[in-house]
Amino acid sequence: MKILVINGPNINMLGIREPDVYGKNTFADLLALLDRVAAEENIQIEQYQSNHEGCLVDKIQEAYGRFDGIVINPAAYTHTSVAILDALKAVSIPAVEVHISDVDSREAFRQISYAGLACKKTIKGLGFDGYRQAILYLKDFLQNK
Ligand code: DQA
Repeated sequence: MKILVINGPNINMLGIREPDVYGKNTFADLLALLDRVAAEENIQIEQYQSNHEGCLVDKIQEAYGRFDGIVINPAAYTHTSVAILDALKAVSIPAVEVHISDVDSREAFRQISYAGLACKKTIKGLGFDGYRQAILYLKDFLQNK
């Protein structure tokens, strides 16, 4: 089973960026955590981060025929990007949306998720553990489909 984990803009700044919202753990900590989860669960994962919308679209397109599932935190593009929504719909790979913070309790502009419309599930407000839960959800979904 192969899962692609995609992170959008500014997620590479974890640990530095707004620690009161996103915590003090770094992006490197997140990458290491998910590599550990994948090893424990016997899943192959690839991790990708970009600050550029088109690069995220390219990566989703390239996943077609190569990955069984996608975990995606589109970050700020969550709330603006029809292109990422359309890419997820185009490849039809089961996807789970993750947000580290509880977007529901934040600004009104964070209440809309375009990418989420193409995702089987959204996990928000659980910090880094949300990614682990997304991987476990996809594993279960893919094994039982
Ligand atoms: C985020 C929430 C978004 O609103 C924000 O733009 C981010 C991170 C989260 O993980 O909580 O960059 O996706």
